[in-house]
Amino acid sequence: MKLVRHVEGKTTLLVPQASITADPPPTSPVFFNPAASLNRDITVALTAADGGETFCDSTAGVGARGLRVAREDPGVASVTLVDFNAEALGAARRAAALNRVAERCTFEPSETNAFLATRFGRDKRFDYVDVDPFGTPARHIQGALAATSDGGVLSLTATDTAVLCGVHEGTCKRRYGGAPLNNHFHHETGIRLLFGAVARLGAMVDIGASPVAAHSTRHYLRVFVRVRAGASRADAALKGMGYVTWCSRCGETQRSASPEAGCPSCGKRARVAGPLWAGNVTEEETVRSAARKAREMGMAGAAETLGSLDGVDGFPPWSFSLERVCSSLKVASAPEDRIYRALVDAGHRVARTPFEKKGLKTDAGYAEVVRAVKAAAGAGPAP
Ligand SMILES: C[S@@+](CC[C@H](N)C(=O)[O-])C[C@H]1O[C@@H](n2cnc3c(N)ncnc32)[C@H](O)[C@@H]1O
Ligand SMILES: [Zn+2]
Repeated sequence: MKLVRHVEGKTTLLVPQASITADPPPTSPVFFNPAASLNRDITVALTAADGGETFCDSTAGVGARGLRVAREDPGVASVTLVDFNAEALGAARRAAALNRVAERCTFEPSETNAFLATRFGRDKRFDYVDVDPFGTPARHIQGALAATSDGGVLSLTATDTAVLCGVHEGTCKRRYGGAPLNNHFHHETGIRLLFGAVARLGAMVDIGASPVAAHSTRHYLRVFVRVRAGASRADAALKGMGYVTWCSRCGETQRSASPEAGCPSCGKRARVAGPLWAGNVTEEETVRSAARKAREMGMAGAAETLGSLDGVDGFPPWSFSLERVCSSLKVASAPEDRIYRALVDAGHRVARTPFEKKGLKTDAGYAEVVRAVKAAAGAGPAP
C-alpha cells in the first residue's frame, strides 16, 4: 500500500493517495477522510480546553485523531490508538515517529469493544475516549462508558444520519431506543437521541452521562458527553430525558415528560420524538474555552462551530423553519431579519439554530412565530 504525507493541523499523517483525491475516500485497505478535519479540529480544541491527560482513539484508522491530539495538545501525556485493521495502525505508528510523538503513543491492534473491556477498572480508564467507527457508534457506547474515567469525556461520531434523522424509524428505535422525527429540525433530534441513548446506557450501570457539546456537520452527527460515576449522578442525568411533540398539521411543537398523543393546539394526532435528551446540550464554560483554544490554535472553522453553540441552551429543543411557516400561510417568503425583529419587539429571544442548515430558535411558540411572519410579510418591501 502506497502512503503519502498529508498535513492536517500541525500533524503529518500517512494516508493513501486515493483518500485525498476520491470523494468519498476508499474504505480499504485503510480509511482516511480529509473532509473530517473539522471534526478532528474540534476534538483537539475540546481536549486541550478540558485538560485530560490520557486519550483513547478507539477506532483510530491511520491515527488522524489520536496523533493530532498527541502532537497538538502538549497537556496529553499518553494516547492509545486502537483499530482491528493492522495495516491502518501500521501507518499510524510510522506517522507517530514522523511527528516525534511515538513515545507518548501506544498502538493496540484489537477490536474496539474487546480492548475497551480491558480498561474497565478504576486505574485503567482514560480521561477521554473517542468512538468514530463506520456508521453507528451504538455498539461501542457501553464499552466506551466503562473505559472513561470519572469526570472524563466520551465523544461519538454517528454517520448513520438517515437513521437518526428519521428516514428509518424502526432502525432508530432499535438502535437508539427512541423515535426520530423526519422534519426541519431532524439533526437536533438526532443529536438528542444520541445523547439520550448514552444517558440511558450510562444510568443502567450507575454512570451519569450528560452533554458537553454537539455538532451536526456535513453527513455526520457528533456528541461529547461528560461521564460521572455514581447512582445519584445517573439519576440526575436521567432528569434530562423527555419527548418532543411536533404537529405536522398546525406546526405546534412541545416538550413533555411523557409521549403526548394529540396536538394540544389543533387536537389532531401529533408526531412524537423520543425518549430523547430534552435538557441542555452544552457545558457552557467548556465550550467557550474550547472555542477560545480553537481560535488560539488557528482553527477558525472549529472556533465558529463551537461559538455557534453559545446560548443554544436558552431555547427549547427544536427550531422553526421560516420557509415552512411561509408556505403554510401561503405568503411569499418574508425577510428573515424582519421576522427576527418582530419577535424581538414582541419580547422574545431569537437565534439561528446551530444544528440545521437553516432554522430559527426562539422562546416564542408557533402561534407567535406565525404572527411575526405575517407582520413581516405584510410590512411592504424591504427598505
Ligand atoms: C471512520 S474510520 C476512523 C477514522 C479516524 N477516527 C479518523 O479520524 O481518521 C473507522 C475506523 O474504525 C475501525 N473500526 C471499525 N469498527 C471497529 C471495531 N469494531 N474494532 C476495531 N476497529 C474498528 C476501522 O478499521 C476504521 O479504521
Ligand atoms: Zn396541531
